[in-house]
Amino acid sequence: MAKGKSKYICSNCGATFPRWYGKCPNCLSWNTLVEEKITNSKKGNFNIETEAIPKPITEIEENINLKRLSTGFRNLDEALSGGFITGQVTLLSGEPGIGKSTLLLQVASNIAKTGKKVIYISGEEATNQIYLRGKRLNALSGNLYILSETNLEVILNAIDKLTPEFLIVDSIQTIYSPRLESIAGSVSQVRETSGKLTEIAKQKSLPTVIVGQITKEGSIAGPKILEHLVDTVVYFEGERGQAYRVLKIIKNRFGATGEIAVFNMTSYGLKEVEEPSSLFLSEKPQNKAGSIIFPYTEGSKPILVEIQALVSKSFYSIPQRKTQGVDINKLSIITAILEKEAGLKLGDKDIFINIVGGIYIKEPAVDLPLALAIASSYFNKPIPSDIAVFGELGLAGETRSVYYTDLRIKECKKFNINKIIAPRFTDNNDKEVIKVSNIKEAINILFP
Ligand code: TYD
Ligand code: MG
Repeated sequence: MAKGKSKYICSNCGATFPRWYGKCPNCLSWNTLVEEKITNSKKGNFNIETEAIPKPITEIEENINLKRLSTGFRNLDEALSGGFITGQVTLLSGEPGIGKSTLLLQVASNIAKTGKKVIYISGEEATNQIYLRGKRLNALSGNLYILSETNLEVILNAIDKLTPEFLIVDSIQTIYSPRLESIAGSVSQVRETSGKLTEIAKQKSLPTVIVGQITKEGSIAGPKILEHLVDTVVYFEGERGQAYRVLKIIKNRFGATGEIAVFNMTSYGLKEVEEPSSLFLSEKPQNKAGSIIFPYTEGSKPILVEIQALVSKSFYSIPQRKTQGVDINKLSIITAILEKEAGLKLGDKDIFINIVGGIYIKEPAVDLPLALAIASSYFNKPIPSDIAVFGELGLAGETRSVYYTDLRIKECKKFNINKIIAPRFTDNNDKEVIKVSNIKEAINILFP
């Protein structure tokens, strides 16, 4: 390869380098650098005559043509701050089989049934397969156009001819541009095809949803650039073997983040769950140690979830630590805090954590309930079902306040959970909110 004709992009972190490395110098992951040929690189100085004049922000006119397009699902519209907006590009990602194609076919048909032309491009399934699914989902509509195609140029042509009002591309990893030599799904192809589709969406003011597959490691295949490029990033999550699906807005240039919508996968497609809290608590065991209620929220909609911990004697030289629904590193930190600040002897114990319902919880408010669930299993003493807990823990075992206090407390009361253990500086004067300064104090209250 002639010098200067290629650059190398890390498919993990997106950093670029002039030469290849086995280990990415930026994020230190192995075998992630892929070659990309540099084409059309113009030589010479910048052309300073090319002009663009910045405007004072007060003189910018509001674009009154921006319209919201309802998805036909009330909770999904709410999570999207009112539905899809003109020209908005959304990335929907999730593990294979979670229900991305099912959800989008339902959304596509809901929009088509309002009289708008919708085009669903699938690079994964044949038209007949999509028809059969559409029939089962009661999603057939004369305005819903299906194209089974992977060549970007053919796709762009079809969009141009059909002039749709809503576009779905399922999935970006299957689409290729014939202008590049690399195979579909490679970093350079994903960049090129998603970049082009975004450009078209903006040009034609076409709301577009692009499906992104998730790799085994849990990141969206292709560089981070895909997330940077789009306006909105949506994750679709759920537990294998369970029917609940949680849709979460991770990024949104046109609305709030942290919003969620919960669905139930039935044999006739996805149905919205109106009261996720009662669904998630419906199977909570009574009077069992290790189970606790946590009012979770990262946006405007709180959900009561059950956290389960199982602490048992280990038969291994290195005890087992496993989590589902929270980061394993969080468990390590909480375990260390419990050892040091509350005197629990966990060094020879296996610890398993499960967030029931399939939500993956990243917010720090989960720390205190997680610690108390572990303590409950350790002491083999149940926590009463009319108690809920939230709060962050510092490394010294101190509690720290979190966001959305009032929303959490309100959701607890709605389900007759009247005692709430919260961090000391929580800004709420409700008599039934028990404020604790540290983990030790919380343990003393629950397990006297
Ligand atoms: P799918 O939408 O194909 O997942 P993805 O596009 O994320 O890979 O969903 C596949 C799963 O959903 C499959 O295991 C079958 C199940 N399913 C139902 O349970 N009910 C239905 O009505 C449909 C269409 C699928
Ligand atoms: Mg699919």
